[in-house]
Amino acid sequence: MSVRSLLERASGALGRWQFLDAPSYQVEHAISLTYLLTGRHARRLQDLLHGVWLGHPLHPVLATVPIGSWTAAALLDGLDATGRGGPGAGQAARHVVRLGVVGAVASAAAGATDWQHAHDEARRVGLVHAALNSTALALYTWSLADRRRGRATRARATAAAGYAVVLAGGYLGGVLSYRHRLGSDHAVRANEPRRFVPVAEAADLVDGEPLAVDADGVPVVLVASDGRIHAVGGRCPHQGAPLGEGWLHRGEIVCPWHGSRFHLDSGEPAQGPATAPLPCYETRIDDGRVEVRRKAHWRTPMAVTTVEEASR
Ligand code: FES
Repeated sequence: MSVRSLLERASGALGRWQFLDAPSYQVEHAISLTYLLTGRHARRLQDLLHGVWLGHPLHPVLATVPIGSWTAAALLDGLDATGRGGPGAGQAARHVVRLGVVGAVASAAAGATDWQHAHDEARRVGLVHAALNSTALALYTWSLADRRRGRATRARATAAAGYAVVLAGGYLGGVLSYRHRLGSDHAVRANEPRRFVPVAEAADLVDGEPLAVDADGVPVVLVASDGRIHAVGGRCPHQGAPLGEGWLHRGEIVCPWHGSRFHLDSGEPAQGPATAPLPCYETRIDDGRVEVRRKAHWRTPMAVTTVEEASR
């Protein structure tokens, strides 16, 4: 059996472990309670950790800190153990292990904030990913304590065990991102429709009520608000919820699944967990029908030329 199919079988089995559901909901409740305790700062803190300000999830960015630091520590430990690193190798290893521990705590906070909205297989794989990374963090914290006490051999052994665990956790992080698309952009970002296409009768629009329509195969949501007709993507970038089932709150469209809010003019997220903006569309009314086309700034220069010519 190839390494790939072995790993795929193992990660697939994790996703089917339904006995993980009960503890995962307990962990989720603990995360929710922690945020509740932060009071009015909860929303801002969650948006910060989701990466709403960044435009994509913060967790993978923070995860590079422990992985990089602990890789450097493994190298320095190896040089120190073989006596080829000079007198500073052990001390340098201690510094990078400490940096990795700090980065791992921040990365875990961001990862847990994202994971609380995961479902089914992604939730189970995410729980194991978190358990592995927490084990690695505990091993490196232990290693750090041993380094302070001068127990260099045991500190290096503990760190080596932690490194093996963090690699396994990193593999599952990849499964979550690339197989389960946790943290990926789920919005439909086709460059269509390039020309105005009719999508609904203007009379069907009710002020403040989102209406899901199909624009040449692209899901779009129309919202009449403040005397204007807005058109944004019909799938939430977070996990693909149908925004036509959402609602309006203070002029922003709210996702029905996890409560992300988006500005209707720009599509930018006003509140997470979504971090990516919604696609936006131009609208016009022709002969009593609402027509939409993709906003020009989303198109390539060649496509803009084509559309400009077509609209003359
Ligand atoms: S699908 Fe999660 S906020 Fe929209």
